[in-house]
Parts: sequence; structure tokens; C-alpha cells
Amino acid sequence: MKHDVKVIKHPLVDCHLTTLRDKATSGAGFRQAVKMLSTLLAYEATANLKTTVRPVETPIVTCDGHDLNRRVGLVPILRAGVAMVEPMLDLIPTSEVWHLGMYRDEATAQPVHYYSKLPEDSPVDVAFVLDPMLATGGSALMAIDSIKKWGVTEIKMLSIIASPEGIARLQNECPEVQVHTCVVDQRLNEDHFIVPGLGDAGDRIFNTIG
Ligand code: PRP
Repeated sequence: MKHDVKVIKHPLVDCHLTTLRDKATSGAGFRQAVKMLSTLLAYEATANLKTTVRPVETPIVTCDGHDLNRRVGLVPILRAGVAMVEPMLDLIPTSEVWHLGMYRDEATAQPVHYYSKLPEDSPVDVAFVLDPMLATGGSALMAIDSIKKWGVTEIKMLSIIASPEGIARLQNECPEVQVHTCVVDQRLNEDHFIVPGLGDAGDRIFNTIG
């Protein structure tokens, strides 16, 4: 695996991933596990965020404190990416949230772009693309393309589960984008679903299965 793909290795990640994979997990349980894993992904993906130092008065003495000095943008891909927003906002309350709407055409597996809230100027300093699933990589690439056109130069992709095919595509087509994921699964099947995978994250998050 190339250095620009970070896969979290942690026993708690393994346990929460098992909750996501289990088809018996309820919608509530699925959403909770997505939150936990998003927080862990965010912790890793924000490790190089720059801060400025300022004095802070504790009840005892004055010491160095830190403020985030970068404009952070969260770009969730509708629908499933929405579930990753709250845990990121909890960590970085000043983040701006810019939604992108995309779905995969069932027949072609090509992404269809149906909504964009991205502005035309004033790009953020760093953008985090949020989507629990990176399958063919088509949706992520389309999102990254829009964010680049906005003018953002530092983009990170956060997915909970990824396929080798999706990772390879991002590495080939936008190697400057760092990918953070909890696991790289075995493969895509003939329907372009991740195997073993977790099904359709959007449906499971929003109770729209069947
Ligand atoms: C899923 C998933 C990603 C996309 C991944 O969304 O949440 O957005 O597919 O597939 P890709 O890497 O092959 O593009 P889906 O199309 O099911 O839309 P939904 O979230 O609205 O259900």
C-alpha cells in the first residue's frame, strides 16, 4: 500500500467494523458505529493540522495554548456521508460543512451528481471528503474534482471501508489526495459492491432497506 493511504490498525476499529458488517445490526447500532469510526478516522486525518500558539491563563499560571489557524471544510457526500459530519463537527466545531449530492446509477455504477452547495470562491484551507464507502471510487473522484475546481489545494478522503479497486483509482487519478480508511476489503463483486463489505451504508443509516 502506498504511503498516501492510511489504514487504521486498532482493535476497537475491528470491533466497530464488525458491528457495521453484521446484517443483524439495527439502524441505531449502525449509526453509532459509524460515529465511533468517524471520530477515530478524524483523529488520524487531522494529525497534521497547524495551530497557532497563544498564552492561556489557567487557574494557576499562564502557559502556551493552541488555536486552529486553518479554515476546515467538511464535504459529506449525500446520503451516507451525512452520518460522519457530527463526529467531525464535535472535534472541530468551527468546520464549514459543504454538501455534495451523488448517487450511483444502479445499472452503470457511474456516479450521478445531483446537488452541490460548494461556493465558487473563497476555498477552505483543507477539505475532508466524507463518505463511509469507497467502492469503484467514482463518487469520491467526482467530489474531489468539484473541490479542486473550488480552489482547495489540500484534500483528504475519509472512508470507513474501501475496496482495493477504489483505492487504486484514487492513487492513480489524484495521488495528492491522502486517503484515510478503517479497512481495505477483498474486492468488488459483479454489482460493484464491496466484499465482504457491509451492504449499502446509506440505506442502513437511514432505515431505507428494501
Ligand atoms: C454509495 C456510497 C458512496 C458510493 C460509493 O452511495 O455511500 O457514495 O455509493 O460507490 P463508488 O465508489 O462506486 O462511487 P449510493 O450511490 O448508494 O447513494 P446513497 O448514499 O444516496 O444511498
